[in-house]
Amino acid sequence: MKIFAFIILVFVFLPGNKSQSNINDAIHHAFDVILRDLMRNGNPETGFPVLAPTIIPTLDVSWSIGHLVDLDGQLRNFRIDGLDGFRINDVRLSLLTMRFVFDFIWPNVRFTGWYNLNGRFGGLVPIFGQGNFVLEPRNFRASGFAQIRFLGSNNNLNVTDMDVRLNLPSLQMNVQGILGGGDLGAVINKVAQDLVPSLIRTFENELSDLMSNLLIPRINPFLNNLTLDDIINRAP
Ligand SMILES: *[C@@H]1O[C@H](CO)[C@@H](O)[C@H](O)[C@H]1NC(C)=O
Ligand SMILES: *[C@@H]1O[C@H](CO)[C@@H](O)[C@H](O)[C@H]1NC(C)=O
Repeated sequence: MKIFAFIILVFVFLPGNKSQSNINDAIHHAFDVILRDLMRNGNPETGFPVLAPTIIPTLDVSWSIGHLVDLDGQLRNFRIDGLDGFRINDVRLSLLTMRFVFDFIWPNVRFTGWYNLNGRFGGLVPIFGQGNFVLEPRNFRASGFAQIRFLGSNNNLNVTDMDVRLNLPSLQMNVQGILGGGDLGAVINKVAQDLVPSLIRTFENELSDLMSNLLIPRINPFLNNLTLDDIINRAP
């Protein structure tokens, strides 16, 4: 019993007598101010790119999204606006469990560009076309948790596991030239506007695995250089 109480004390007051609420304030600040600013301005020292807006002049595509969509080809003048417009419903790090809980909403994001793609949907249905496109997910939500562990003796941070739930209530899209465009293209756009949100619901577990595999190796190189103290010390 004494040992248990001691462990709790160590975790709650580690490091430097910061309480749980100080840490949650620091983490909220890290996302609300620091990450938003990083998205807008990037950081040449750490190689963090400007993401708001994201601008990619040409992007060679060879995507296979969970055996659901296979696409090959190219995007040009690809641009994403609104990534920095996220609302924070929840960000918390429990010092007892080192579980980081998050819940973000992006009210308005806009993807634009020119595409020339060929592929398959569900392994069967052909998808092809070229032309300009606009995709506008509305109120896209990402919530879940990341499990953090301490590395080595300086208590650097490492994400070992993630669960990411994605939800998309509505999508506006206008992809010109899809399946040759014309009336068929208009129908495809209309169907896809309803289909994509429902596919995201149906494949939420597959998407969670996909997001974890994508995010963990990209987040860890930054986290591995940080300790809990570093995060707290950047608080206002
Ligand atoms: C961090 O966690 C990931 C996922 O479990 C693991 O693959 C990686 O080796 C860990 N990093 C270090 C430095 O231990
Ligand atoms: C982590 O720290 C090392 C040593 O200071 C540095 O070389 C490396 O660039 C840093 N990595 C990131 C992603 O900040």
